[in-house]
Formats: sequence, structure tokens, C-alpha cells
Amino acid sequence: MNFIENPELLHINRLKPRASIMPMDQCLKLNGEYEFRYNGGDWEKLTVPSMWQFKGYGKPRYTNTNYPFPFNPPYVGNFNPIGEYKKKFIIDKLTSKTILRFDGVEGAFCVSINNKEVGCSKGSRLMHEFDISDFVHNGENELYVKVWTYSDASYLEAQDMILASGIFRDVSLIQLDEVYIWDYTIKTSMREIEVEIDANLKEGWSIKTIVDHKVKFGKKVTFILDTPQLWNAEEPNLYDVEICLCHNDEIMERHIKKVGLREVDIIDGVLCVNKTPIKLKGVNRHEYLPYNGRAIDRETTRKELLLLKKNNVNAVRCSHYPNNPFFYELCNEIGLYVMDEADLETHGCSVTGDQGFLSKSSKWANAYLDRVERMYERDKNETCIIIWSVGNECGSGENIVKCAEYLKQVYINKPVLYPQDDGHMPAFTDFRQCGYCPVWMLEQMEYETDKICNKPVIMTEYAHAMGNGPGALYDYWKMIYHYKTFAGGFVWEFKNHGVFENGTYLYGGDFSDANNAYNFNLDGFVFSDGTPKPAMRELAYVFSPIWVEYDNGVKITNTNDFKAVKDIKWELIEDYKVVKTGLISKTILPRRCITEKIMPDEIKCGVIYRINIIYEGITKQVRLPFAVPPKKYNKEDFVYEVCENCIKGENFEIEFHNGMISKYSVNERILFNSPMKMNFYRKPTDNDGVKGKASEEIMNKWNKSMLQYFEFFCERTAVIQKGNEVIFEFKGKIMPEALFVGYFAQIAYHIYKNGEVLVDIVCEPYGNMPERLPRAGVVFELPKAYDNVEWYGRGPHENYADRKYSSIFGLYKSTVSDMSVEYERPQENGNRSDTYFVNIGDLSVVGSDTFEFSVHDYDLNSLMKAEHKGEIKKSDKNFLYIDYKQRGLGSASCGPHPEEKYEFHPHSFRFAFMLKQNTARVYHLDFEAKTQVLSEKYEYSKAKTVAENFDCRE
Ligand code: GAL
Ligand code: MG
Repeated sequence: MNFIENPELLHINRLKPRASIMPMDQCLKLNGEYEFRYNGGDWEKLTVPSMWQFKGYGKPRYTNTNYPFPFNPPYVGNFNPIGEYKKKFIIDKLTSKTILRFDGVEGAFCVSINNKEVGCSKGSRLMHEFDISDFVHNGENELYVKVWTYSDASYLEAQDMILASGIFRDVSLIQLDEVYIWDYTIKTSMREIEVEIDANLKEGWSIKTIVDHKVKFGKKVTFILDTPQLWNAEEPNLYDVEICLCHNDEIMERHIKKVGLREVDIIDGVLCVNKTPIKLKGVNRHEYLPYNGRAIDRETTRKELLLLKKNNVNAVRCSHYPNNPFFYELCNEIGLYVMDEADLETHGCSVTGDQGFLSKSSKWANAYLDRVERMYERDKNETCIIIWSVGNECGSGENIVKCAEYLKQVYINKPVLYPQDDGHMPAFTDFRQCGYCPVWMLEQMEYETDKICNKPVIMTEYAHAMGNGPGALYDYWKMIYHYKTFAGGFVWEFKNHGVFENGTYLYGGDFSDANNAYNFNLDGFVFSDGTPKPAMRELAYVFSPIWVEYDNGVKITNTNDFKAVKDIKWELIEDYKVVKTGLISKTILPRRCITEKIMPDEIKCGVIYRINIIYEGITKQVRLPFAVPPKKYNKEDFVYEVCENCIKGENFEIEFHNGMISKYSVNERILFNSPMKMNFYRKPTDNDGVKGKASEEIMNKWNKSMLQYFEFFCERTAVIQKGNEVIFEFKGKIMPEALFVGYFAQIAYHIYKNGEVLVDIVCEPYGNMPERLPRAGVVFELPKAYDNVEWYGRGPHENYADRKYSSIFGLYKSTVSDMSVEYERPQENGNRSDTYFVNIGDLSVVGSDTFEFSVHDYDLNSLMKAEHKGEIKKSDKNFLYIDYKQRGLGSASCGPHPEEKYEFHPHSFRFAFMLKQNTARVYHLDFEAKTQVLSEKYEYSKAKTVAENFDCRE
């Protein structure tokens, strides 16, 4: 019988599914060292749990939406490596019943004990159990497992992740007596815990259950708690349910399960826990380690979940399969809502034109249902699970509908979700979807709520964090907090899935694999090794329990659903100096707000006042609405000599070359000695365009217009001399070779006393400009010795127009190398927006308004060439980019472009900033020229401001 290419044969002798229960002291783990043989090779040693491609046997694959074998269901082609495992184990005292459990085996597999075939199973991320009582004996026994890389089951396991194989979760032996507890189901509500036990009781045997010091006997018991401590993600109170199997008075088998009291409902279109509306501040998470694939241990999982918790995340979607059983225990304890998802995805069927190709086939119906049923049975007692998900990307079809129907009628039922049930009007599940939708579309769904569908809106996936991204988190959450039926969602995704090798992280195409999905596996909020990307700070900021706005005072809203907040600190800031601090004595109840009047004693001119609100490690900032008249820049007479392309003063020397300032020395210090360059390009972020895939129109248009090669060509020069300033004026065009595209440009340098230079650039686009642009600005080549950077603006971490809210204004110091972020596929990085001045080494750049800047110890060319971490060739110079504007980040590798207000469309602009020697901190100066939009038609489309939704009661 062909077990591996037969979708109707789901297993041989596998036991019926049940909860992943484990009687105390009756279990032996069969992890550790195994004999292992790869595809008929030599027997070697391999540690279990693991995935063999990560241990030097074959290579992992990354195909995302495609199958890694010829599409011909249920067949999987010729290349199908087999892994064989052997392990000896000792049984000291044989009991009546011995069960062999696998928590996860990736690939279809068959098991033998002592050379006798026991059974076979499929369903990689599900539990498999076999009764091996008739196969084992006292003393030494041998376990043999044969695993196929691919089987018909692989057609249902086309999740977007690194593909690898092996016994990747625990293997255990469970020894039971003749009478035993087979399963139990614990149902909790806001007052009660009901326990139903499935046991083959006989005369003289009984079951005793203990909860909160109360004891009850029988197979079905209910505990009513007088002063119930409820469970929610913010206050994860748990009760021990102790279940004992007794023979006369002796305890023969004992289980302890921790459960919380909680109910999940949808009330008037609002997702509620314990009748209280909740918002899911969630992430999608795969189980993954860069050196061990899906074989992740409990301690690492705990660390990851604590990291999420620390960053104010309150929910995890098990994308896209049931996780290791310990994951749920940890979520119960740490306090995280979970959306459990069946191990079901048929994305690769899209090649037929129908992703639901198999979802419509009755031959596969049982294979679908089996996966949903096994998820439910295994995880039914987990308090943290508040939503069942039928699976991911299986298209539409009867098989999926049946799975949803199954989940709706199970005993422990909760809201059911299927990401592809019609977004606006779901037919068979409980949520409306707005996957990867732009903010405006999310808002539109609110207006439909009453009219068509009273179901909560959830974003099962949004904010694609691939590479340097995503944008708009703030905008999404402003919207989500505002509208009642928005249940929040799960950002995509927690972690990068680079494959660690020789100090770098590999992705699709690095495994001699033609059919690959590039670096789509690098799309997390944390890097492959678990260190947070800058994006994580933004996530923590929008998820923080406090939301702060200025509205006739500092309005602080508690975004928690259950917990009050208190002990909020405030700081009054003059530009970047703390001038006053205090503590807010009031307690803010969940979903309530207060308004505090915090004011300076006197309002000074030329100062920007801001208030920092500090709570649980997050600082939020608002600007007080006072007009700030800048100080007029004071021009004084000075002595100088000019030539056609140079000027010399008493203490400075400046030269120009082709309209670019090319030498700048003040007080005998050479601040730079090679020409400034105009720069209109950035190495595309993954959201600008992934290796010619996704949003290719953008990146390709940039390349087609040769933005990278834009250069100023001077047509006319003028030198205007006055007593207190000399103006070098260059008129011409900025353009690449050959093409009809570019800017009409006028670049003027106003030179003042002490060699202070106001650079005034006016640009007007012409020709075939791409409709979305990466940036516009200049770049300076500076001495390597200029390593210390100090700036007043947004920081300290990297920020862009649409991912800058967590970067509050301040005075920051750093070094050049610390200002870059090395993405695992290197790309544009390190920007700081809304900057008033930056000082680097001896050079100081002061904005006429704010500007954006970045510094790198490598040039754009080296960045362009680097495809993996560690490949950027460092330069012997430092590079300082001063930008009029950079495009926002967006999520376009899998989602929308930057919101319009963060987009960069071609327009005329003026960009003015001052160069000077770094002697003192200078800012808020009124120069003759000011950075501004010049196109009349062009305006940043203003964000619609939404009124606050929270009832404000003080
Ligand atoms: C989603 C899919 C995820 C992942 C993501 C892109 O549509 O459900 O599994 O592939 O796109 O990273
Ligand atoms: Mg997919």
C-alpha cells in the first residue's frame, strides 16, 4: 500500500486524538541522541528534536507560495529524501499500557518497535500517538522511525516558511495502568470550572478532582467559585485543576492542568473576553530558530513570548499551524491571547488558477477535517485560545466550510475565523477581514458595520515587516482604538526566518533552488537571532497602554481593556532640555482618559515646548501648541577674496566644482574635501521592491529613470558680492545620461562671515519622472575620523515618515557605525527624520526647517552590492546624507504603499540648510531661504483627524 501518496489514508494505527495530557511521573522522554541515516547513507548520530536539513543533511527550501515538487496531487515527484531514526530505550517496569507520542514530525512517517511495524501517520505539526503495549518488553527496546520529506500531506502544508524535515518536537513514552484517564475536557466560564473526564473506570476505581481546595468525585464535576479571579491577557490568573485517578484510596494517576476563568463572545459585533471588549495587539508568529528550524525549545519560546509581552503585544496567531504544546501553557501563564490555527494551507494550488483546488475535492475532505479535529482535541483545554482558525490560504471550497462547521459545534467553542471567508460579508465564520489593507479601507469597513454585517473586523495579517518596514502602524492604531468593532489584528510577522550559516542568514535562492521566494522569509519585527528591529519600537509604542494626544491639555488614554494605569511621570521639555518633571497622581481606568494641564512657568520665544509622558518604559511626546518665531540669522560684514569657483575669507576657504561645493575648510580644519553630490536614490527597501518581485513597478521605474545616476549639470554661473554675503549661484539641470527626466535646478550658496554657508536648492521636476520617488537630497563624503554624531530631532533609533512616532524629539549622540541598521538583506537604512541640526565631527548642518539625515561608513554602491548580512564593504570615508525628503516605508512587499501623506510624489521644492563649523549647537534660525513645497498643486494630503472614541471622564 502506498502510504505517502494517498490522501485518503491518513494514518495506520494512530490512536484517536485527545488533549496533550501527561500523567505526572509516568512519562519517559525519548529525546536526545538517535542513530540517523539520510537517504540510505551511513548511520550517524543526530540529536532529536531537530530538523535534519539544519544539521547538514540536504538543504532547506524556501518556496513560499509554490510547492517544492512537481504539482501533481497526490504525487510528490522523484526527489523525496528519507530520514531514518533508531534509538534504544530501557523499560524498567512494564505497565499494562504503553503509549508512544510524537508532538511533531515533519513529513509522513512510519514507526516500528523491535523490528515490528506499529503504524504510520501524517500531519506535521500535530500530535501522533500509538499504542505500543504489544510491541515492548522489560529491558532494552528499539524504536525505529522512517520519515519521508514529502507526501500527499505536503499538499496541505504549503505554509510560507523555511521547509525542512524531521522529528522536531518531543517524543515520549507514557506508561499507564489497566485503568487510566484517557482524556479530559475543562470548560470554564466567569464563575465555573466544569471538568469532564474520559476514563475506563472499573469497580474500586474512582476520580477525584480538586480546585481551589474543594474536592469533588465523579467523571463530570462542576466547581462554582465564590470569589472568582478571572483570566485575561492583562491579568492572567490561573487555577490548578488537579485530577486524580484513585484505586480505593490510593492515587494511581495524577494530572494538574492550569486553567483560567474566561468567556469569549462577540457582543454586538464586538469581540469580548469576560463580556469586556478587547483589542488584539497581536503578532503572527512562526516557531523558528535560525539554526534548528521549527525545533524550538521551551526556554527560547518563553523568552520570545516575554519579549512580546515587554513590547506590549497581547496576542499571538499561531501562523500557520498548532504550536508546540508548551507554547499554550506559557501563554496561559504570561497572559497572551492566542488564535490557534489548523495545519492547513494549499497556497501552491494557485498555479491551477484556484487556490481552493483541493478544498473542493471530496477525496481530500477527510484529510482536511482530520487536521482541524486534531487541533481542537489537543488544544481544547487551553485558556489562552480565544479564536479557532480553520487554516490559511486554502482558497474556497466545501472542505473548508466543513472544517469551520466542525469548529462551531465542538464542545469548547469560540469564535471561528478563516482569513479567506469573504472579507466584508463572511459566509461561514465570525470575523470580517481587512488583510494588508490600507488605513482608508479599514475605516470604510466601519461605515459598513451597521449596514451589512455586525461582525468584528480583524486584520489577521497587516503591516508587513519585511526588511526595513513597515509603515503606518500609528495610523492603523489610531483607527483601531477609535472604532468599537475593530478587534485589532496581527502584524506580519514576529521574526525573520533566515537560515544561519557561516555568520550570515540565508534565504530563498541560497540553497541551489531555482523555485524560490527570495528573501520573503526575512519579514519579521525581530531579526532571525531574536534582536528587535527598529520597527519593534514602533509596535511597542502604538500598543502601549497609554495613548497621548494634545487636546486642550495633555490627554492620556488608557488603552488597556482590564487594568488601570497609574504612576505616570511627565517631563516638560524646552527643545531638548528637561525643565520640570512631575508625577500624575490620578489612576486612569481601562479605556478611560484624563486631561492634564502641564504648562511652562513662562513661555520663551524661539523655543519649542514638548511634554514627555513616561509609563512602563515608553515615552510618549506631545508638542505644546505655541508659535515659535525663529531667531533671525545675523549677517555681518567680513573680508574676503573671490575667484570664479572659490572664496577665501580670513579663516575659511571654499571651492566649487560643477556647481557643487567641493572643498570646505574653516579655521584650518578641512571639513570636507570632495564635492557634495545631489542624491535622489536609495537602495530599495523590500517594500520598495523585492528583487524584481512585488511592487516591481516602483523599483523598476526608479531604475528605468536612472535615479541613481542623477547629477547636476551647470549651465550658468553667477557670483554676487555684497559686504555681508557672497552668493555663488549655479543654474542647470539634474538628470542622468541620455534620458528625458530630471529637475530644473538652481543651487545657490550664500557665504557669510566665518565661512558659514547657506545651501539653497530649488528643484522643479520635468520629463518622465516616476510617480513615486525614494528621496531628494545631498550627500557629503567626510573624513573617517568624523565618527561622533550629535543631533536634535527624532531618535534615537532609525525612523522614517511613516514609522517615526516612537522616535521622540531629543538631543541624541551616537557614532557613525551605530547609526546604520544592517538588515539581513542589506537595504536603505538608518534614516532620522524631522532633524533641526546634526553635528558630525567638525561639521555642523543646520536646517532652515527640519530635514532628514543618515550617516554610513559605506557608500551606496557597496550597499547596492550586498545581498547578505556581513557583505557590505566598508569605506575609508563616512557618508552624510542630508535629505529634503525620504519616501515613507509602507508595506508594499505584501500590502499597501505608504499612506498618501507619507508618499513622495514628484513636485517642486526648495531645500535650504546651513553648513558651518561645529562650534556650538545652533537651531531655530530664520534664514533668507526656507525649505518648502513650491508646487501649488502639490500638498501633503492631510490625515483625517478622528475624534477620540474614549469616554472622557475624570
Ligand atoms: C500572507 C500569508 C503569510 C505570508 C504573507 C507574506 O498572505 O498568509 O503566510 O506569506 O502573506 O509574508
Ligand atoms: Mg501562503
